Parts: sequence; C-alpha cells; structure tokens
Amino acid sequence: MKLQLALDDITLEDAVKLVEQVQDYIDIIEVGTPFVIQEGMRPVRLFKEKFPDKEILADLKIMDAGYYEAEEALKAGADYITVLAVTDDGTIKGCVDAANAYGKQAVADMICVPDMPKRIVELEAAGVHGLAVHTGVDQQAAGREPIDDLRLMCTHSKTAKISVAGGINTSTIPMYAKEKPDVMIVGGGICHAEDPVKAAKEIYEAMKEGR
Ligand code: 5RP
Ligand code: MG
Repeated sequence: MKLQLALDDITLEDAVKLVEQVQDYIDIIEVGTPFVIQEGMRPVRLFKEKFPDKEILADLKIMDAGYYEAEEALKAGADYITVLAVTDDGTIKGCVDAANAYGKQAVADMICVPDMPKRIVELEAAGVHGLAVHTGVDQQAAGREPIDDLRLMCTHSKTAKISVAGGINTSTIPMYAKEKPDVMIVGGGICHAEDPVKAAKEIYEAMKEGR
C-alpha cells in the first residue's frame, strides 16, 4: 500500500519544505489540481529532479484532449496522470495511449460517476492502469466520505490498481487501511494538520501492515 501526498492549496516553496520533512513516509507526490492551475508543470519537473526516488502524480483531471494534455505532464516527468472517469471513451483512450507510450500510468478519477460497477468494467477494458475512488472537496463539505465507494470498488475491480481519496486523516485511516487499497491519498489530513509531520508519520504507521 502506497501513501500519496496530495499537494493542493500550497505554495511551491511550502510544498518543497513539506515534502523534505515527510519524505520518509510518502511514496507518491501528487501535484494537485489547484497546484497545477497555479504553477503548471513546474512542480512536476522540480519534484522529479529534487526527489528522484519518489513517484509523481499530476492530478490533471483531464476531461478532453486526452493524449495532448496527458503528454504535457508525462513530458515533464509525471509517473501518473489522472483523467475523469465520466468523460468520453475517446478521451480515456488518449490518456491510456499517452501513458503507455511513456511507460507510465493513467488513473481514472471516479468522482461523480453515477454507475460505478458499469464504468469500472468499461475503464478496465479500455486499459486504465488505476481507478481512484474519490469524494471531492465540495462533496466532503456536504458530509460525504469515500468508504462505501471504496468497498464497492474493491468488489468490482479486477485488474486496475485501486486508490482512494476524500478527506482521509489520522482518525479515519484505520478504517480505509482495512480495505487494503493499493494507494491511499491524503491531502488536507496532512497538509492542514496542526503538525503535518506527526500526521504523516501516524498515517504511515497505520498503513504499515498492508505495505
Ligand atoms: C480534490 C483532490 C484532492 O487532492 C483529494 O481529494 C485529496 O485531498 P483531501 O485528502 O484533502 O480530500 O483531488 O479534488
Ligand atoms: Mg487531487
């Protein structure tokens, strides 16, 4: 089980400092969607150079122009790009093709997918490498959490690696770890914690059994 640190609402300077402090506990550095909007591919290049042992995910949430947009991040050194699972199959294929051309991985973000079991079959047939269960920030504000969707995903997914995101923190991590996803994604639970290093260590410890 890998730990992916989602860097969302953070400056480049603070993000580098945080990754330096928590690098022993994390496997994947996510350049989050708001961070990409702010900085483009600069953090992807910088993290790849500064932390060569870590994998980099560019959370582009691609909705169109799959190959072209995925390639922007892959050229910059991303190991994973994300595409929205609700989009057109042609866009999904473009992302998968681009990832395969670079020997990297395309992860489909399941946010707002109405029929998960049906879409999982289609996405795996399209060759996506990863499926990310995701309760978004706005859905979290309405009191939702991704645990039920994760259980549903674990039942239906056959080939793709499973990741999960959506407000996971030091209190809820044991419940998610029990489901044994391949990747645990944590953003605010570390970045907004009173002591981010302590939170990262606690989450890492809670995941240890499944590593
Ligand atoms: C929001 C995202 C976040 O990166 C993801 O939800 C993880 O952050 P948090 O743990 O704070 O929910 O992609 O769209
Ligand atoms: Mg994200």
